[in-house]
Amino acid sequence: MGSLNGKTCIVTGGAGSLGVAAARLFLKEGAKVMLLDRREAELQQAAATLASADVAGMAVDVTDRASVEAALDAAVARFGKIDVLFSNAGNFGTVRPIAEYPEDVFDAVYAVHVKGAFLMCKLAAPRMNDGGSIIITSSVAGTRGDPGVYAYITAKHAQVGLMRCLAKELAGRRIRVNTIHPGPIANDFQQRVEDDLSEIIGRNATEFFDSQIPLGRHASPDEVAKSVVYLASDQSSFTTGAMLMVDGGMSA
Ligand SMILES: NC(=O)c1ccc[n+]([C@@H]2O[C@H](COP(=O)([O-])OP(=O)(O)OC[C@H]3O[C@@H](n4cnc5c(N)ncnc54)[C@H](O)[C@@H]3O)[C@@H](O)[C@H]2O)c1
Repeated sequence: MGSLNGKTCIVTGGAGSLGVAAARLFLKEGAKVMLLDRREAELQQAAATLASADVAGMAVDVTDRASVEAALDAAVARFGKIDVLFSNAGNFGTVRPIAEYPEDVFDAVYAVHVKGAFLMCKLAAPRMNDGGSIIITSSVAGTRGDPGVYAYITAKHAQVGLMRCLAKELAGRRIRVNTIHPGPIANDFQQRVEDDLSEIIGRNATEFFDSQIPLGRHASPDEVAKSVVYLASDQSSFTTGAMLMVDGGMSA
């Protein structure tokens, strides 16, 4: 019997690298999974790749209340009340000195990470079974500052505030709420960041990051997903309000 047997799990950013990796492990552990993402074609492709009767996908913009509500209602109708919310959708923005940082980019990054995670939690909580688990994907960027990364880093810190408030509010229902903080992951999202950063810092950003990570390399999406399964399952039954670093020691 899997550690998530029969549990209904919602995954935002469900068409993306970490979302799909987590969904694959959720399914392996016996869960039913609703993938939510705003990229419809990639979402259908992700659901097809996972190839299971226990997975479904729905196009959602996490910044839009009506679309989130419709998706959560559809998930409950299809799979039953929610046990696990993996709030994971994300965008990066850009890297610029503060005086040049574009306000519209700042707003767009905040909308997804902060308003989006807030809406997902706000609308999922009343549809959850007691004893469930919420995991929000923050980042090592939610624990440190770096020049120029204004929107992403402040948004990733803000998610910790959301997590801490929720952990206290939902403890009475035994719903645990935690953040995960991955360091650089070997995937397209991070590659795009590193391509931009390499130009700005004038050296290979991938090598630079690896030199900052005691374990000396990027994580695989699967390695991060395993920590998500841990927080989703009863294996972490006494862990709430926690920031789980999955960063190869980068923040140590
Ligand atoms: N890749 C890394 O190195 C890394 C490191 C630390 C944290 N993270 C975080 O991990 C999470 C997953 O990122 P990933 O690496 O899988 O990248 P990804 O780009 O593969 O996945 C992110 C997904 O979020 C979706 N998304 C963006 N805005 C959305 C919206 N408004 N509504 C619904 N879906 C939306 C995208 O379409 C995409 O599929 C993000 O929150 C990211 O910030 C990534």
